[in-house]
Amino acid sequence: MKQTTDFLKMKEAGEKITMLTAYDYPSAKTAEQAGIDMILVGDSLGMVVLGYETTIPVTVADMVHHAKAVRRGAPNTFVVVDMPFMSYHVSTADTLLNASRIIQETGAHAVKLEGAEEVLGKIKALTTAGVPVVAHLGLTPQSVAVLGGYKVQGKDAAAAMKLIEDARLCEEAGAFALVLECVPKQLAAQVSSKISIPVIGIGAGSEVDGQVLVYHDVVGYGSGRVPKFVKQYGQVSQEIIGMIENYVSDVKNSLFPEKIHTFTMKEEELQALYG
Ligand code: KIV
Ligand code: NA
Repeated sequence: MKQTTDFLKMKEAGEKITMLTAYDYPSAKTAEQAGIDMILVGDSLGMVVLGYETTIPVTVADMVHHAKAVRRGAPNTFVVVDMPFMSYHVSTADTLLNASRIIQETGAHAVKLEGAEEVLGKIKALTTAGVPVVAHLGLTPQSVAVLGGYKVQGKDAAAAMKLIEDARLCEEAGAFALVLECVPKQLAAQVSSKISIPVIGIGAGSEVDGQVLVYHDVVGYGSGRVPKFVKQYGQVSQEIIGMIENYVSDVKNSLFPEKIHTFTMKEEELQALYG
């Protein structure tokens, strides 16, 4: 399994880092089998597998529950877990307690926090306590109500300059990687060249050190319309619906179960039963 330092080495060597979300045992197992470098138990699980409108309702208990399943499915992959809404905007002591629940109860390897500014102190406190941290800048979905929607960030020079500075501060605070979401590719390239920790992009173009996508978007499972930055490699939902339709039809038409799916009693036992 890779360590935090391996991801730094991959950046230095120009080897792209692959990251994918996973939320449960089978998604984690298949991600590991496919050779993903790093799994993210994203709070996107609120939307993707719990059916909420945003990531806001997701709790530390939800993250712990799902991260445990992910670790069981991918015991040999580096696992990052999102700290959910408000769980790191409380006191430093409570932030450390929330992170320690996530790390100790699940066996995950790192946590991810959105934002800079007052979050920088939390990144520092966590790394000082021995918890590896991934920072997350650009579009930060936990602040979507403040940002005014899911929009591309850092489009003007002033916002871009602030983002580059925030990225630098995240590195200085001790983050070992940075997720950069929904920013112009020129800005993402700048950020990657200005800091030494790997920049893992989502909607940030190709000139960064790795990419992350949502599992269900990649395989086309339950996700309706996907953002422009997603590449869908299939439409698993359509296949699943077709398979379930076949099952329904087989049962309705008594074509399932067949003999191979069926248990039978021996003839002499039947004799004893019915005489
Ligand atoms: O929750 C999530 O899935 C994420 C990624 C989109 C980076 O934070
Ligand atoms: Na997230």
